[in-house]
Amino acid sequence: MLSDGRGVAVRTADPQDLAAVAVIENLSFGDPWSLSALLSELEPDPMRLPLVAELEGQVVGFLMSWIVADQLHVLNIATDPGWLRRGVGTALLREAARRGLAHGLVETTLEVRRSNLPGRAFYHRHGFRETGVRKRYYADNGEDAIILDCGLDGLAGD
Ligand SMILES: CC(C)(COP(=O)(O)OP(=O)(O)OC[C@H]1O[C@@H](n2cnc3c(N)ncnc32)[C@H](O)[C@@H]1OP(=O)(O)O)[C@@H](O)C(=O)NCCC(=O)NCCS
Repeated sequence: MLSDGRGVAVRTADPQDLAAVAVIENLSFGDPWSLSALLSELEPDPMRLPLVAELEGQVVGFLMSWIVADQLHVLNIATDPGWLRRGVGTALLREAARRGLAHGLVETTLEVRRSNLPGRAFYHRHGFRETGVRKRYYADNGEDAIILDCGLDGLAGD
């Protein structure tokens, strides 16, 4: 079985990926985005960088991000639960970093739920630093968000 992301192909996502992305979103999050929210991230927009990861031609993960000033803001990343710990998330993050660098961006930032220990471990593994807390950021349960930052340079090649 793959363990290091070999064989993962990452490409720009488009509206035709909506169904596959929605399945992974619904399996991955307790408060999944609506179809219309997902679709708006997949529609062509120079400020958005939606990516999907494929293994053997099957969509197994996605990452959505925005270009905000000189930062790449990651909104959402998820790997199909059947394909965790095989490098899919890493392949998505690295490709997002490469594309961010190509746009002249320097840093990436994101928020993660305080209780999301797997997500936090994943980001720490890639060198993200915790730079702050947004109190009661998540409307569904009032949970805090941890703010994480990372330079794109290291991330693209880590
Ligand atoms: C976070 C997430 C995207 C990681 O995806 P992934 O494809 O499993 O990640 P990778 O296989 O590339 O993991 C790379 C490294 O990150 C760390 N990591 C990933 N998942 C981890 C976990 N559950 N526990 C501890 N460390 C973890 C490990 O160091 C791992 O390397 P290893 O498997 O060789 O030990 C995935 O867990 C996920 O979809 N979670 C649900 C959605 C979510 O919470 N997204 C983040 C908030 S937006």
